[in-house]
Amino acid sequence: MPKLKKILLTGAAGQLGQSFQQLAEQYPQYAFTFADRNDFDLSETASIEAYCQQHTFDLIINCAAYTAVDQAESDAELADAINHVAVQKLAQIAVQQQAKFVHISTDYVFNGVQHRPYVETDEVAPRSVYGDTKLAGEQALLQTMPLNALIIRTSWVYSPFANNFVKTMLKLGEQRDNLTVIFDQVGTPTYAPDLAEAIMHIVVSDTFKQPDLSTEIYHYSNEGVCSWYDFATTIFELSGTVCTVSPIETKDYPTPATRPAYSLLNKAKIKQQFELTIPYWKDSLRRCISVLQEKIS
Ligand SMILES: NC(=O)c1ccc[n+]([C@@H]2O[C@H](COP(=O)([O-])OP(=O)(O)OC[C@H]3O[C@@H](n4cnc5c(N)ncnc54)[C@H](OP(=O)(O)O)[C@@H]3O)[C@@H](O)[C@H]2O)c1
Repeated sequence: MPKLKKILLTGAAGQLGQSFQQLAEQYPQYAFTFADRNDFDLSETASIEAYCQQHTFDLIINCAAYTAVDQAESDAELADAINHVAVQKLAQIAVQQQAKFVHISTDYVFNGVQHRPYVETDEVAPRSVYGDTKLAGEQALLQTMPLNALIIRTSWVYSPFANNFVKTMLKLGEQRDNLTVIFDQVGTPTYAPDLAEAIMHIVVSDTFKQPDLSTEIYHYSNEGVCSWYDFATTIFELSGTVCTVSPIETKDYPTPATRPAYSLLNKAKIKQQFELTIPYWKDSLRRCISVLQEKIS
């Protein structure tokens, strides 16, 4: 079986990127290159090309993305350049270098009107520029690399790193006695270190190392389900923060981008294919909060 020794990881400064950086020492058999925007700018294909002419890899893990969902509504060109055009370019490079490719996508490719967890083959219908551009990235990758790539759609990512809902809630909980949070959007949080671990579990598997692996989409989040309201109250409960949370409807918290009301991901395929066990969301949240509290103390 071919060896996947040299790994290029994009988006190294992001939540998932930093989670991989923490994990890397557990995988000394791989040479990781953690690339951020100082190494190349994903919005410029010439910049990606120039970098990849100088360096070759056996595997590309694309953790970079334009993730500002609301800002994307008025910044569609840049969001498309990063979430779509750059993915196509990286895929072309992967083909040239005979490298494999792991790409991360989102639950926002769905419209959220369903009432059972989304499977990989469910119809996609994004409701935002971010979702549109991420879907275009998936499609470009599937077309460019019918073999040797893997797309993992995930949802509600948080971690001890960069910006996310958990850190925002903890900050607001310190500053305010009460908050309003929407209760009519339902999904599952994903702890970025769990996702990074799951990806490495896949990368080391014999299934993934096979030549001419068929490119597939998989869904990954933590186990369980909650609303943003449930998520916020659990963050306060587990961190011992005294802050009252009142549930409100999405219509009472208008945002530029429309989000899916229901975005649970069915994870049966990834669990079965790669014999993966996925932690329950509250257990992972507890771990994240203790990491954050350790940092403060
Ligand atoms: N966050 C979520 O809730 C969520 C939900 C579902 C799916 N996802 C997907 O999960 C993946 C990882 O997300 P994340 O939460 O780790 O994202 P993140 O924290 O926002 O990190 C994204 C990284 O991409 C980098 N990047 C953006 N534009 C770039 C450019 N032009 N050139 C080079 N690098 C650039 C950013 O660099 P800078 O740090 O320099 O800006 C950032 O470090 C993404 O594919 C995202 O779409 C995320």
